Amino acid sequence: MRRLQFTGAILVILALMMGVGAALAAPPAQDGPNIPNGAQLYDDWSIVTGQSAPAGNQPLWARQSTNTRSGPDTWRCVTCHGWDGMGKDGAYRSGSNYTGFPNLVSAAGTLSEAEIIAALRGEKDADHNFSAVLDDTSMADLVAFLKNGLVDDTQYINLTTLKVIDGDIGLGKELYTQGCVSCHAEDGAGLPIRYEGRDASLVTVANTDPWRFLHKARYGTPGNPMQKIGYDLGWDVQNGRDVLAYMQSLTDPRAQGTPPPAMENRPPEAEKPTGPATSWFSGILTALAAMFTTLGFNILLFAVLILIIFLLVWAIRGSKK
Ligand code: HEC
Ligand code: HEC
Repeated sequence: MRRLQFTGAILVILALMMGVGAALAAPPAQDGPNIPNGAQLYDDWSIVTGQSAPAGNQPLWARQSTNTRSGPDTWRCVTCHGWDGMGKDGAYRSGSNYTGFPNLVSAAGTLSEAEIIAALRGEKDADHNFSAVLDDTSMADLVAFLKNGLVDDTQYINLTTLKVIDGDIGLGKELYTQGCVSCHAEDGAGLPIRYEGRDASLVTVANTDPWRFLHKARYGTPGNPMQKIGYDLGWDVQNGRDVLAYMQSLTDPRAQGTPPPAMENRPPEAEKPTGPATSWFSGILTALAAMFTTLGFNILLFAVLILIIFLLVWAIRGSKK
């Protein structure tokens, strides 16, 4: 009988510990670098960090003359390296977005984390110095995004029509209905999207800049209350393209306000910069990273459960004596 009381007390303490543990573990849930945050910093670090971009153009901007944008936009990673991260080799290989700046998909594969951070601190090129505006955590998140979050979709988007190749429209519709329809509505026009200075629909973005759509659908848009993103919903790289394919299959409710395609004067299908290996590989890496984040906590829970069962059996056997 005494043994039963003792075990009861232990069980209560364990239950309390688990409650406290779960409460502590729940809010941050992420102790490693945060890939979606890195992706949003890449999109527009000034919105994410709440700091405005330094006055004038980013110094490197003067090294090109094809892209005539100016001011704060020239400080965004995406302006120079593209929504696809492929710089001069990707969607920005021509047209008004062209800068000739480097491809980060290939760079992230060969550079070490320390080398990427060195590049961001201006240690490789003094004009590429973001250390005044990005702290260590932000830099680590950016590195995690570049190394494990960038997806090479080149093989899956027709460079002339900008349509997804081999997307599963049915599955895309399912995923969209589950995660997105509550805000964006069935026609993709539930919320006005600020796009190139106008109000557009999700369909507009999907049709005119599929890479931007994929980036923001997978990782979110900085500084908005968009609650569900593909990354948190466990989408793999293909799922993003499935939802994109579904969006592209709809008629655009705001077609009249459609801005000109973002990739003007795109040459017909040019050489493929990288093979499919990168996208499979980074896909697997992303999945593994996601698994490991939750694995540690799961193992702990499992161990505590085993312990409780063991104690119960022990108590019952003791009380029978
Ligand atoms: C104004 C244009 C511009 C902006 C903004 C910009 N970069 Fe770059 N980036 C370049 C150029 C040009 C180079 C190559 C020359 C150099 O290293 O300065 C480069 C190089 C790099 C490299 C090294 C690539 C290699 O092969 O060594 C990385 C990594 C990188 N950028 C990431 C970023 C990230 C992340 C951001 C946002 C915080 C960013 N860049 C913002 C223009 C830009
Ligand atoms: C809770 C509401 C909400 C949900 C759920 C939601 N979004 Fe959004 N989404 C927003 C808001 C708000 C914006 C920002 C609109 C703006 O300011 O341009 C946005 C922006 C976007 C953009 C960026 C458009 C652009 O190019 O600027 C994409 C792409 C997008 N959402 C896709 C999705 C997808 C895919 C899902 C489902 C996985 C989803 N959203 C779920 C609210 C939501």
